Amino acid sequence: MSQDIQTKIEQLTAELNAYNYQYYVLANSAISDYDFDQKLKELEALESAYPQYRDPNSPTLKVGGDITSKFNTVQHKWPMLSLSNTYSEQELIEFDERVQKAIGHSVQYVCELKFDGLSISLTYENGKLTQAVTRGDGIQGDDVTNNVRTIRSIPHQLKSNLQYPEVFEIRGEIFMHKSAFLRLNKEREENGEQTYANPRNFASGTLKLQDSSEVAKRPLDCFLYFLYMENRNRTYQSHWESLSAVHEWGFPVSDNSKLCNSIQEVLDFVHYWDSARHQLTYDIDGIVIKVNDYAYQEELGFTAKSPRWATSYKFKAEQAETILEAVTYQIGRTGAVTPVANLAPVVLAGTTVKRASLHNANEIERLGLHQGDTVYVEKGGEIIPKVVGVNMEKRKPDALPIKYPDHCPECGTALVREEGEAVHYCLNEDGCEPQIVGKLQHFIGRKMMDIQGLGAETIVTFHKLNLLRQISDIYSLGDKRDELVTIERFGQKSIDNMVAGIELSKSKPFEKVLFALGIRHVGETVAKKLALHFKSLEQLKLASIEEIASVQDIGIRIAESVHHYLSLPEHLEELEKLQAAGLQFEVEEKTVLLASDSLAGKTFLISGVFATHSREDLTALIESHGGKMLSSISSKLNYLVAGDKMGPSKLTKAEKLKVPIISDEDLLNMINQ
Ligand code: IVH
Repeated sequence: MSQDIQTKIEQLTAELNAYNYQYYVLANSAISDYDFDQKLKELEALESAYPQYRDPNSPTLKVGGDITSKFNTVQHKWPMLSLSNTYSEQELIEFDERVQKAIGHSVQYVCELKFDGLSISLTYENGKLTQAVTRGDGIQGDDVTNNVRTIRSIPHQLKSNLQYPEVFEIRGEIFMHKSAFLRLNKEREENGEQTYANPRNFASGTLKLQDSSEVAKRPLDCFLYFLYMENRNRTYQSHWESLSAVHEWGFPVSDNSKLCNSIQEVLDFVHYWDSARHQLTYDIDGIVIKVNDYAYQEELGFTAKSPRWATSYKFKAEQAETILEAVTYQIGRTGAVTPVANLAPVVLAGTTVKRASLHNANEIERLGLHQGDTVYVEKGGEIIPKVVGVNMEKRKPDALPIKYPDHCPECGTALVREEGEAVHYCLNEDGCEPQIVGKLQHFIGRKMMDIQGLGAETIVTFHKLNLLRQISDIYSLGDKRDELVTIERFGQKSIDNMVAGIELSKSKPFEKVLFALGIRHVGETVAKKLALHFKSLEQLKLASIEEIASVQDIGIRIAESVHHYLSLPEHLEELEKLQAAGLQFEVEEKTVLLASDSLAGKTFLISGVFATHSREDLTALIESHGGKMLSSISSKLNYLVAGDKMGPSKLTKAEKLKVPIISDEDLLNMINQ
């Protein structure tokens, strides 16, 4: 018996740690919040009955953790705690009873929406935003100041006529509005880039980008809900009071919060938002309930990981039950296979759902799907339907498990799954119809070669008629006018338009061509970075995997994919044809006007925060004087320009490699000499 319990605790610990890693580090969740919380509660109960089996690193003791190695790590002045949560109204009533018992009478609560995003802590000194740090593990987080500066609703400088403390910290949630999520995800899909499951993951993935200019293109928003400062209770009596002050200082504070005088008013607020939340332009996953009075908050205090003066009520995602009619498999242009659940139509949060993505083979296995199963469908982030479980009671005894195909359902080629990847691929890129058509359609797309007069439908027609098999065939369509005019609804004028469009595409810059080729994992941004770094196809062809991976934000997976693509003779032959057709395979060198060449031949890396310059300013300064920026500390680095609060690991590495560490002032002196 006790052996069983120990095994169960170990199993739950490992499982929850893996989910935490997926959620916080990979910004991806493979389990619904509800199921996660249920498992966590099961583990908590087992651990409190059998504390001898508790793992010292148990997920029940942790706040979570999203520290990544790419940013400087910063200690929080006040730990960033999480909130206890419940899905039951009875437990809210019990929370109120506990509070009343401790204080001796009823208290006021502030009810707030629980925004489904990422928590952030902002520091202001003399009214100026000086630092923005993610929650991380609650004790220390990532310094994402530059990225947060791109969020329009967050003030960089408070108006000087206001009465705010000299130094304070303000905490809140960063999120993405649903409309921006849908628009950007659609763009990513068109570009063949990985899409995000919900706005929360999109916001999290965005905040973790190294390139702030890319962050600026993805609109994030923020609500602030918490003020910290020295001796706060001397200035403000209550949370409600501080929220109104913070609002006056110019911070975005939600106007959907309410001051409640009883637990009944709290419950009314919860009920109202359970349905009204669908009308919001952003996702919330529950309601936060906070004791209003600071004096009472202090009296109630904290447990190891959350305050006793607050809790959260989480909404169950709206679910529906329906029949899994079939699983079909879509082959994308890169050969990626996506299993799709075809469902008996069912209404969910106001729309009819007929299909839901099953992501990959792991997901089918995790769900243990069988043919004809009755499944539960949920809207992930209230938008994209997903299958979250099976109603086992309704499984037919003779139902067979869904078996992931070994071979491509379109062309019969054996599917492969690379180590560490969740997705199966059909590698028959030149013989698998949906891949061929998908690649051709991708090539002509608006953000790629933008060929006017040639649309996705026409590509399908031309492909069926054998006029197009590979991309280079597009550039000989003009020689096939006699054949083209015989096609229904394809007159002389359409042909002229199309030929003109094709001709015009020859002047598209190298980065667009590189993106348009449809190399696996090469989206718009990656293509841009590769083009900028290597300048020409010739140089890119010569680069090793390591060299490609050394470009900022290019990981080993992308580098391997590019390298592999350029190693295949059929691709080289195709590229030669495109080159012969006149496409751009070199970056047009713009004459860069250098302010001086005082830093020529020297490499730099900037780290930490600077009192008088932003990191972007320093980068621009270095580059305009001929210096080159590197993205990591290596023996190739000549100078590390260090500001305040640089991460300790960077410092150690620089010292170990004997890289000179200089200040921003030293840098200016170098330039002036
Ligand atoms: S207050 C010590 N208020 O929920 C309490 N949190 O599990 C600090 N959240 O980490 C949090 N909306 O990311 C608070 N109105 C709100 C919130 C909120 C969302 C998030 C926050 C926090 C988590 C708690």
